[in-house]
This record gives sequence, structure tokens and C-alpha cells, in this order.
Amino acid sequence: MQIRLADADALAAAVQLLQQGRLVAFPTETVYGLGADAANPEAVRRIFAAKGRPADHPLIVHIGDLSGLNTWAQHIPDAAYQLAEQFWPGPLAIILPKQAQVPLEVTGGQQTVGLRMPSHPVALQLLQAFGGGIAAPSANRYCRISPTLASHVAEELGDAVDLILDGGACQVGVESTIVDLSGAQPNLLRPGQISRAAIESVLGESVLVAAASQVRTSGMMDVHYAPATRAVLCATDDLADAYRQLTAQGKKVGLMVWQAQTSPANTQILMPLAADVYAQALYASLRKLDSLQLDVILVEQPPVDEAWRAVNDRLGKATVRLS
Ligand code: TXA
Ligand code: MG
Repeated sequence: MQIRLADADALAAAVQLLQQGRLVAFPTETVYGLGADAANPEAVRRIFAAKGRPADHPLIVHIGDLSGLNTWAQHIPDAAYQLAEQFWPGPLAIILPKQAQVPLEVTGGQQTVGLRMPSHPVALQLLQAFGGGIAAPSANRYCRISPTLASHVAEELGDAVDLILDGGACQVGVESTIVDLSGAQPNLLRPGQISRAAIESVLGESVLVAAASQVRTSGMMDVHYAPATRAVLCATDDLADAYRQLTAQGKKVGLMVWQAQTSPANTQILMPLAADVYAQALYASLRKLDSLQLDVILVEQPPVDEAWRAVNDRLGKATVRLS
């Protein structure tokens, strides 16, 4: 495994590896992806092996230009073009009926395919140089925290990945919004930076939220994105007491909070106040505290409102609630 700054030489090497059916991790604006040639079933199977992910969990196909929509999907409703026009390149994945030739390995055996045009310049350059679609889940082991730095990918996957392109820290920090357009009504399967309201205002119709649908999304499982250390969500008013009780029991406690607590500085992370900046820092913060051999990570509960929906969704999966 090699980490290389994503210059022209490294991009050329990445394209060659993809053509040979190998795995290349690359930065996107959301999180790092573990990429393989989406048209090559054997290459796609390598993704599942590297992640330890069950084969029936579908992957998103990343495309470098709009013509990819018709290459990978069919029966494309106007809504898909409207969303693509407004939000691509960007952190939105759209689920559509798949074209016949899309390998079932990519779609987890389903007749739909997830498509996304990422906006990170390295991702776009890679896609355009490769020319085809790149299947890429987040570049972490199954059920672990998604990587937002090249070094996180190396920690997660080691030699299971052939090359890691380093494009710095991911700007969005949480995975893309997923909207399913394969059913009668648009269905939001995973919240992300692009909000339900923003999608509704483009489509001029209301969007269901994770209504029971035929599709499986691993991001919708209860245990996901989780640190190995027990992480507990805690209301602001309960923080100081919870911290005191846990330390009185001899527990080593890490904190992700807004106000500094009387605890060692190296085990507490002061989180950004704005939701989008918090999202950027979320996974790296969990990962940092997870590396400190603590007994518990206490996470201060963010506001429960629309702006924080994606953050609260990921925290809900990474933590248990203080009871
Ligand atoms: O931001 C992102 O989307 C990142 C970057 C790398 O692009 N990728 C990502 O991939 O988060 P992954 O595999 O970790 O999550 C993709 C989600 C999964 O929950 C998967 O089940 C869902 O997309 N998905 C993919 N294809 C689908 C389909 N045909 N129907 C329903 N869900 C699908
Ligand atoms: Mg993932």
C-alpha cells in the first residue's frame, strides 16, 4: 500500500491500477472512497473483501460527467436531471433503475443503482482520466468510522488497498445525501449536507424520509460508523454529572463538547458550533478519542433541528444514549 499526493503521476498510476482491476482509495468532498472499476465484477468483489462488507450491500457508482447517468441508469425521471443539474458535482447520490449491464455485484443483487458525481477535484480528475464509473463505498472497514483523511484509510485498510491518493481533509465530512428516485415518490434514504428541504425546493414535491422501501442501505443499519470505544450521547445539562460519576468509578473518559470541562485537555475535543463545520470534524474527532484507550467517550448532544440532521443521524449510529 502506498499513500501518494494526488499529482499527475499518481493519478496516472491510479488509472492504471483501476484498469487492472485493483483498488484505489481517493478523496471525495464527503469522505474517502475505496474505488474499483464498476464495470469489472472481480474488481468490485475486491472491495467487499477489503472492507469485510456483506456482498448484498450495494455500492455507489461515481461518474465524472452527466452522460454517466444514461450509461448506468434507465427509465430516468426528470427529477433526476433536475437534482443532477442543481447539486452535481456534489454530495448527493441518486438511486435509479439500473441499466441491464450494471453488474449485480455493484448493486448488491438489486435492480437499482446509486449514482453520484463528486465535486472533489481529485475525484473528478480521476473519474475523467479513467473514463468509466468507479464503484466506491467509504474506505473504512465494515461498520467502522468513515475516513476523512488519507491516513485514516491507511489505518483502516492497510495493504488491502493498492494506492491511496491523498487530497487532504474532506470538506463535508459526512457521507452524501441519498435520495431514491426509483419508486413512486422521492425517498430520502440517508441525510447529508444537502437537506431534504433543498431537494424538495428543486423538485417542487415532498420527499419521504426513509420510508420502508425495497432497497437495502448499510448506512441505515443501527450499528454503523461506530468507534470501538463505548460512545455515549449526553444532554448538556447532564454532562458534568455523567463525567463525575464515570471518573469516580475509575473510568477514563473522553469528551466531545462545546464548553471546556474540568478534565485533562488531551482527552477532550472542543467541537465547532456550526453544524457544517461540526460535520467536517466529527469522524476525525471520534477516531482521535477512539485511539486513546479510553473506557467511554461522552458526546454532548447537538441541537435536534434540521440543520443538524446529518450529524445527529451519524451520532445516533455511533453512540448509545445516556440512560
Ligand atoms: O459520500 C458518499 O456517498 C461516500 C463517498 C465515497 O462517495 N460513499 C459512501 O458509500 O458513503 P457507502 O457504500 O459507505 O454508502 C453508500 C450507501 C450504502 O448505505 C448503500 O447501501 C447505499 O448507499 N446504496 C448504494 N446503492 C444503493 C441502491 N441501489 N439502493 C439503495 N441504497 C443504495
Ligand atoms: Mg460507509
